[in-house]
Amino acid sequence: MYSIALTLHVLGATVWTGGHLVLSFCILPPALRERSPTLIRSFEQRFEKIGIPALLIQIVTGLYMASQLQPDPARWLGLDNVISQTVTLKLALLAATAALAVDARLRIIPRLTEHNLVSLAWHVIPVTVISVLFVIVGVGFRTGGLL
Ligand code: HEM
Repeated sequence: MYSIALTLHVLGATVWTGGHLVLSFCILPPALRERSPTLIRSFEQRFEKIGIPALLIQIVTGLYMASQLQPDPARWLGLDNVISQTVTLKLALLAATAALAVDARLRIIPRLTEHNLVSLAWHVIPVTVISVLFVIVGVGFRTGGLL
């Protein structure tokens, strides 16, 4: 069961992190250059159909793996060992992603025009950096941790 969860977790990572790298490097620059919210809107509408399920898979499989590695959730938070370090960093990255995504979804995207494209960019770029950090922290778990 753990290997199935890990496989799904890696697949989900390819979608979430891969999708945000495509958005940041291939969609956002021309959208900003051409001041065209259409490019972003059409990507977002298509990507979210697979992006949101991928994020949910990351959360479910991530919490499952964490519970297998450390059955006592009270010991998940902390930096004194590689398991709690991984889970603590992952939950912090998840909270940051949720805050940025909810703000973009509720405040910016419904009123997306050429005038607030830059403030959307200030959400897309940090979410992309965080998605890469998720991968670095995850792989770091197998290679002995980051700190
Ligand atoms: C978008 C969000 C996420 C991405 C992109 C992501 C990505 C990854 C990647 C690439 C790995 C390495 C897999 C390997 O070594 O084969 C990993 C491992 C791991 N992730 Fe995530 N992750 C995400 C969210 C989470 C969340 C929310 C948790 C929950 C605490 C979590 C917990 C873990 C754990 C415990 C491992 C180590 C599994 C192992 O190597 O046995 N992840 N993650």
